[in-house]
Amino acid sequence: MIDSHSHLFEEEFNIDIEDCIKRCKENNVNKILLVGFSYDTNRKALEYSKKYDIFYPTAGIHPDEADDNYLEKIKDLKDFISKNKVYAIGECGIDYHYTKENALIQKIIFKEQIELSIKYNLPLIIHMRDATADTFNILKEYKGKIKGVMHCYSGSLEMAYEFIKLGLHISLGGPVTFKNAKEPKEVAKNIPLDKLLVETDCPFLAPTPFRGKRNESSYVTLVAKEIADLRKISYQELEEATEKNTKELFNL
Ligand code: NI
Repeated sequence: MIDSHSHLFEEEFNIDIEDCIKRCKENNVNKILLVGFSYDTNRKALEYSKKYDIFYPTAGIHPDEADDNYLEKIKDLKDFISKNKVYAIGECGIDYHYTKENALIQKIIFKEQIELSIKYNLPLIIHMRDATADTFNILKEYKGKIKGVMHCYSGSLEMAYEFIKLGLHISLGGPVTFKNAKEPKEVAKNIPLDKLLVETDCPFLAPTPFRGKRNESSYVTLVAKEIADLRKISYQELEEATEKNTKELFNL
């Protein structure tokens, strides 16, 4: 099993990172994409991946990072990618949940990262929150040139098919286990198995029965179990398929 999206370098894990990794291995979670999203976290992801062989680092600029220093941030990312081995660009994307005031800068940063992913032939890890139309319209401009994943996807099934048509995969996380999560469950049931990835996005969005508590990568098994049940297939079949998809997409 692979957790395709985690932030295990966050300080919530400082006290027990070794135990977290141990719990992963006990649950047959053997590979983890360690996702950077800022100057500091891109470096932490790289540093942790050198220390623990379970991790595969990525680097990106999160839409929350869209401020007046964006040109410097883009320059730093370009420099970082040119010097270090990463497995994906991101997370990046569009997020209007808290503000739309920086929409223009968000779009510029996102497009720069799409261009980088094309230049280096790397997949994108895409964050989208309350911004479906703009995210889709930007990605559509690059149809045929991009690959990547809509991470912790929470949109409609209809839009999931549209993103798949652009060449992207769909990743589901903890919310698919929530009782009232109608849309993620619809997506889990219906999208082609060869387009599906699983993730935790830890420390956020812990699956049931840990909802509201700290999430960790070993809980990706609970996400996978829920999706296997929804699709009426075995856990093993789900595990094999998502593992294959993740390995192929990120070239692990
Ligand atoms: Ni994340």
